[in-house]
Amino acid sequence: MQSVVLFGLGSIGVEIFRALYHNKKYKIAGVVDNNPSKVNQDAGLIAGKKRTGLKVVSKISEIKSNPDIVIHATMSSLSDVNNQISSIVRNRINVVSTCEQLVYPIGSNKKIAKTLDRLAKKYNVTIVGVGVNPGFLMDSMVLMLSSLCTKINKIKVERIVDLTKRRKALQKKMCLGRTPRQTRDIMNKLGHVGLEESAMMICDALNVKPKLHTKIKPIIAKHHIHSNGVSVRRGQISGIEHNLIAKNKGSEFLRMNLSMYAGAQEYDFVEIKGIPPLSIKTSGVNGDKATVSLLLNYIPIVLSAKPGLFTLNKLRIPWAHM
Ligand SMILES: NC(=O)c1ccc[n+]([C@@H]2O[C@H](COP(=O)([O-])OP(=O)(O)OC[C@H]3O[C@@H](n4cnc5c(N)ncnc54)[C@H](OP(=O)(O)O)[C@@H]3O)[C@@H](O)[C@H]2O)c1
Repeated sequence: MQSVVLFGLGSIGVEIFRALYHNKKYKIAGVVDNNPSKVNQDAGLIAGKKRTGLKVVSKISEIKSNPDIVIHATMSSLSDVNNQISSIVRNRINVVSTCEQLVYPIGSNKKIAKTLDRLAKKYNVTIVGVGVNPGFLMDSMVLMLSSLCTKINKIKVERIVDLTKRRKALQKKMCLGRTPRQTRDIMNKLGHVGLEESAMMICDALNVKPKLHTKIKPIIAKHHIHSNGVSVRRGQISGIEHNLIAKNKGSEFLRMNLSMYAGAQEYDFVEIKGIPPLSIKTSGVNGDKATVSLLLNYIPIVLSAKPGLFTLNKLRIPWAHM
């Protein structure tokens, strides 16, 4: 049985807690969250389960047992989680995290990743960022499909998500139900963290040196939408459309579209124009549940990896840990 500490008991953290709670392979050794409304509370009660006697603590140093791994689920930006992950590593514990920018650090995050990699090696532990997107549907899965081809001219990747079926934290991040006027000042911060990371994971692996062009726009409801207990009035923001084009030597190599909006018909689509040409389409994947599964299914991979910070394309493919 592996002992696991959960770091971050928000929307995803609660789902992770429930999945661990019902799984005989894991023992929850502690829960860390610094939200004052959660500190010192029983983690089981916060997660909608029975009293467990596990009190939420605000820092990893307060965990007195010797856990095998921390499942970390707090924030999306690597600079925001750098200190959190460093503190876990200094306590000599492996980390699997939902931090989007940790999945494939790019740009200035490469420097943070290098420092974390050195720290992980010093303390003899492994750090990996995983998730459904980024981490699987729009990057790892595309790379796996690319292995069926000997030549690739163009790749198209789409993910369409019904926001009403996703967690409140994501709906809030996407400004669901707000007016364009209310979000004018934050319009350039809208969008999904991780699309550029997914694009670079694909391009680097396929040896393409791309120029990335991204466009994010809010989707405005044309009529009243009421679905899964969520209401969006006509004229309010119902979600976002995030597009990316990666050009190689002036011509389009990769086109990505992530649209998350209320009432969307969900699917994931990958098309490779090459030898042989291929395409696959899903009927939609519940991203929150799939992320929780990936976190658990990566535990054996992280525990058997060498010390350091690894991106997913450097590790073996995951499968369900039954
Ligand atoms: N890659 C993927 O596919 C994927 C999928 C799902 C989620 N995610 C990411 O996973 C992260 C967690 O998602 P969520 O919806 O659960 O977020 P959330 O509801 O905001 O929960 C995060 C929790 O972590 C706590 N926290 C923040 N900073 C902390 C710190 N320094 N020490 C201890 N606790 C801290 C927060 O407290 P406060 O409330 O006080 O801030 C909150 O309770 C997000 O960044 C999300 O985007 C990634």
